[in-house]
Amino acid sequence: MQKFRAKEALLALIIDILFFTRLASAGSFPRAQNVTWTSTNFKTLLTWGPKPSENYSYTVVYSVVGQDSKPSPHCIKTRETMCDLSGSLSRLKDRYIAEVLSEPPRGVFSDLVEFPHTTSKEFCPYKDTDIDRPDFTIVVGEDKRSVTLKVTDPLTALFDGNQQLSIRDVFADELQYRVTYRRHSSTGKKVYTSAGSLIELKKLDQGESYCFEVQAYIPSRTPGKQLGAQSHTQCSEGEKSFTDVYSVPVIAGGVLLILVIVSVAIVVAVVCLKRRRKAKENTKERDLL
Ligand SMILES: *[C@@H]1O[C@H](CO)[C@@H](O)[C@H](O)[C@H]1NC(C)=O
Repeated sequence: MQKFRAKEALLALIIDILFFTRLASAGSFPRAQNVTWTSTNFKTLLTWGPKPSENYSYTVVYSVVGQDSKPSPHCIKTRETMCDLSGSLSRLKDRYIAEVLSEPPRGVFSDLVEFPHTTSKEFCPYKDTDIDRPDFTIVVGEDKRSVTLKVTDPLTALFDGNQQLSIRDVFADELQYRVTYRRHSSTGKKVYTSAGSLIELKKLDQGESYCFEVQAYIPSRTPGKQLGAQSHTQCSEGEKSFTDVYSVPVIAGGVLLILVIVSVAIVVAVVCLKRRRKAKENTKERDLL
């Protein structure tokens, strides 16, 4: 009985020691929190927290899901809380995961076999990167009833040799654009989808000004990821009517000014007339005397 107790106590002690060392190591190397992908136009960053103390650093490793992971060359024993993986995730349609390891600082050795680590969610560049807002110019057709929008395909953070790739280079036929437009004078919006980057809108009201917003549209993606950011609003020039050129207060002011001028002129004319008449009468009276 006594012997059994001793054994049990020894076991408890060993467990205690193991548990304590684990706690100590976890205490000096806190696990990374909030490991998050943020990606726009294939510029892909992994971010996390907290800022490390002097006593530890972070190393980022990544892999295609189910394959061996390798460290990201610029994010080994780093004191940053961000790692740019744009150049590393080169197989765009693959699904990646990354891990943030909490390690001793540069130059400090540790015999810990496994460091505390946090695993990211899965990320597929082709499906998940956000698409930035495009830029475009407006050309009004000769007939004033059609408009052509020339969209500049946004550039990505990807290169093919020296050439920076646009989203059209990456998505090819899968990239479309969605135009939301309305008459300048109205709020009723219409939507038009175009496969190409040159978008022709026909059968518009002749001479009217229209306002347009353009965004990338990738129908092959999951619903929440299909639309890119919306461009700034731009309006075409219409043929201006009198009320477009001059606002109502300006017109009212103009009318008022004319009224004032006319009234003043009338008053002045009346006063002058009276004076002249009086003067005439005076001379008449003088003549009579
Ligand atoms: C993680 O995110 C939560 C909620 O947004 C925040 O309260 C916490 O401070 C973050 N932790 C770090 C280390 O950034």
